[in-house]
Parts: sequence; C-alpha cells; structure tokens
Amino acid sequence: MEPIDKTQQDAQKLAAALEAVKFIKEGDVVGLGTGSTATFAIEEIGKKVREGLKITAAASSKRTEELAKSYGIEMLDLQTLGSIDISIDGADEFTESLNLIKGGGGALFREKILASLSKNRIIVTDSSKKVLKLGAFKVPIEVIPLALQYVVNQVEKLNGSSILREKNNETFITDNGNFIIDADFGLIDHPEELAKSLNQIDGLLAHGLFIGLTNKVIMASSNGVVVFE
Ligand code: 5RP
Repeated sequence: MEPIDKTQQDAQKLAAALEAVKFIKEGDVVGLGTGSTATFAIEEIGKKVREGLKITAAASSKRTEELAKSYGIEMLDLQTLGSIDISIDGADEFTESLNLIKGGGGALFREKILASLSKNRIIVTDSSKKVLKLGAFKVPIEVIPLALQYVVNQVEKLNGSSILREKNNETFITDNGNFIIDADFGLIDHPEELAKSLNQIDGLLAHGLFIGLTNKVIMASSNGVVVFE
C-alpha cells in the first residue's frame, strides 16, 4: 500500500474515475456505485450528459440516486432492470486477482446486485486500496435485524469477531432497513471459501467480499493510472 495524504488520495480518486468514464458509450445503461470515488465518476457522467451524451443509469444507493438525478442523469429502477452495460464503483480493498472488500458506505447489497447485473464491471480506486491479502478492512455484512445475534454467532464460528456499525451514536440502518456488522477475520487466506461459508448463513443478506464480480480495477497512483484486469 502506498502512503498518501487526503489531497493526493482525492486527486487519485478523480484520475481513476475520469479514466473509467471513458469506457461509457452512447446508449449504455450505466450502473452507478456509492462512495467518494464513485461520486467523482457520477459528476463526470453528469457533465457528459449535459454535453449531450445519451445514457440511462441505475443507482446502488439512495444517496447515489439523488446525486445522479441532481446531475440530470435519467435513472432507471434497479428492480426491473434485466442487465446493465457497464458499472463503475469504488472498493475498500482489492487484490491483483480482482477480489474486493466493499461496503464501507453500507451499500454492499445493492452494489452486489448492480455488479451481478453488469456486463462490464469497473472498479475505481486510489493506490491505498491495493493489498496483498484482503482483511485489514473489516468485512461489512448486512444482516436482517431479527437474525442479528444468530449471524454474529455464525460469524464467530468462522473465527470472525463482529462489531455492530453505528453512525452518530445510533445503529446504522441500510437503505434496505437492515443492520451492518463489520466482521474482523484477520487477513483472509481463502476469500472464496469464506465468501461461500458466509453465503450459507440465514439472515445474512449480503457480505462485502466481492469474488469474481470485477472485470477491471482502475487504480490511480503517484506514477499514473494502472489497470488490473
Ligand atoms: C460503499 C462502498 C464504496 O465503494 C467503498 O466504501 C469505497 O468508498 P470510497 O470511494 O469513498 O473510498 O463499497 O458501500
């Protein structure tokens, strides 16, 4: 991981986002991610739409939906969309094998649906997000409230310790009305296996391990933009 300050980080996020937006074509249905890096991309897409680019889009969160509408982007309902041409989203960590941890912003469930519907899934990051092994960033897990203690117990059986996410001293509630637990598994040797085990837990709506859901990571660094694919 490259040590960078906030100004450098924002410049890198912008550079990666601008590079990703170049892949959008006239007529595309575009999946819009959530978070500060995705926001740079949404701003750029908004600019292109004002200049005449014709696209439609679907959002991975209420925040993104509002932001995109404020830029004049025509929004479609994710619920009825059969496929998305290209999606652009951020990540909290990624490895060169294109596995990710996502969900720092709590939008992981919709982000996963968006990625699953997308034909071309592009992740945009600054250089601080690249890791050799996932897991320094805790794995966000969206939990149906009724199943909270059950899921915490099951995560413990997988050697994970959980913290219930809070925001402004209150339990964080997702766009879907659920809780987030941030689970610490230490550095994860076998993310595919952990993802499969988590998938089997009842009451766990989605986890932030994105395995095989990315075609390209566009990472900006102090040496310029690097593409992993
Ligand atoms: C939100 C996410 C974000 O993409 C992730 O947290 C990265 O955010 P940022 O671009 O602000 O660093 O997964 O749920």
